[in-house]
Amino acid sequence: MTGRFFHGVTGHGAQNTTQDEPLILRNEAGATEAEQAARKADKKRGNGPDFVSERVSLHRYLLDKINLGVLDTIEEKELHDELRPLVRDYVKMNNFPLNARELDALISDIADEILGLGPIEPLLDDETISDILVVGYNKVYVERFGRLQETEVRFKDEEHLMRIINKIVASVGRRVDESSPLVDARLADGSRVNVAVRPVAVDGPQVSIRKFAKRPFDLNRLVKVGTLAQAMADLLAIAVEGKVSMVVSGGTGSGKTTLLNALSSYIPHEERLVTIEDAAELQLQQPHVVRLETRPPTVDGRNEIIQRDLVKNALRMRPDRIIVGEVRGAEAFDMLQAMNTGHEGSMTTIHSNSPRDALGRMEQMVGMAGMPMTQNAIRVQIASAIDLIVQLSRMRDGSRKVVSIAEITGMEGDVIQTQEIMTYKRLGVDDDGKVRGEFRATGIRPRFLDAVGSMGLTIDKSVFDPTKVL
Ligand SMILES: Nc1ncnc2c1ncn2[C@@H]1O[C@H](COP(=O)(O)OP(=O)(O)O)[C@@H](O)[C@H]1O
Ligand SMILES: [Mg+2]
Repeated sequence: MTGRFFHGVTGHGAQNTTQDEPLILRNEAGATEAEQAARKADKKRGNGPDFVSERVSLHRYLLDKINLGVLDTIEEKELHDELRPLVRDYVKMNNFPLNARELDALISDIADEILGLGPIEPLLDDETISDILVVGYNKVYVERFGRLQETEVRFKDEEHLMRIINKIVASVGRRVDESSPLVDARLADGSRVNVAVRPVAVDGPQVSIRKFAKRPFDLNRLVKVGTLAQAMADLLAIAVEGKVSMVVSGGTGSGKTTLLNALSSYIPHEERLVTIEDAAELQLQQPHVVRLETRPPTVDGRNEIIQRDLVKNALRMRPDRIIVGEVRGAEAFDMLQAMNTGHEGSMTTIHSNSPRDALGRMEQMVGMAGMPMTQNAIRVQIASAIDLIVQLSRMRDGSRKVVSIAEITGMEGDVIQTQEIMTYKRLGVDDDGKVRGEFRATGIRPRFLDAVGSMGLTIDKSVFDPTKVL
């Protein structure tokens, strides 16, 4: 029991959700039988706390007892002294067998949390949580394992939540209030935060935290969790090493940035890389990386630096490759130019639902640059710059799959030609809601194999056999 207490939020979904606080959105059917049984059992025992830990309950308990108003002025030592009897009572009430040293450690942890981001601290510590979504002061959801769940985390009132919000945004030198109700910020650990308050957020303060993955997925782990087959990983690895320019395409949260990160580790360490992002998320392992990040305009609308400015600038920095976190607009034009002028192997992600869709969007984005180019000229530019599109999709059960690896082979008339090399075939849904399917090659061997082959990078031909499951 002690261990659970200290480790805060525990569990992996199973025993943690009750039917009173069901998984929301997505498919309820996604829970395994074991999970459902555990939920029923919990309910019967009447101890149906949802997945949030004792630490969350302790925060709730303390919220009613302490005067938040004095927190800003109180000394840490003093806070410990104030908390001690309260925590001791709570521990006694709940029969937690803690010795004096453990009690001290708990008090110190809780004090840190109260002085930090309060009730959401236990959620920030829990590595299985990827997103924390505060929907007003008395409702907090989290995403773990691809599913949204409500928690028992509460703030005392709206004022309490606003205090925490202002603590978060103060770290980026901003304030949130009616005159500036939308703010992006970042936590010390790199997690991204978006805040929306009244009057734009009609029902009160909204906070969306996308947590920074402390243990980034590498390609092996992505294979292990079934996002792609080993053969696909091998193919993409030699493509990246062999300077094949590629675009990772997918919907929001489909794992584009994660895959781009994983792929980037196959870039040789001698190269000079420039990364361009709206909010630095990429974690490249190479020793020689220049990281550039856009800057929002000041309150009076000046000094904005957009991705396009950064891509143009990157070209003057002698990069071997340019990595754009996500293309969203006119920078697509400059990025394609870079890819066409000696920066092969550059990579980016794009928000789209299929390789075809990605091409259409790219075309639209190049159009935004306002260059006097015909549609055909734009397509030629795209077709010669990009070699490979990797399409990701988030399945209904929350898993992510590489659903297509498609190669761009050129133009025919005014149409960009693509050929699919490997795909995911969805076969159905298991009784427990898990999506079933298999990865297969189409039988077509990618053209880029010759180029990368001449660099000594090869892959066994058998992976292109369409009759075998990858
Ligand atoms: N293949 C995967 N399997 C499971 N979870 C994943 C996978 N890829 C990403 N995630 C998780 O999904 C969330 C969104 O991933 P991210 O790469 O930022 O998506 P995108 O860039 O497409 O919006 C992150 O919390 C990440 O840890
Ligand atoms: Mg992303």
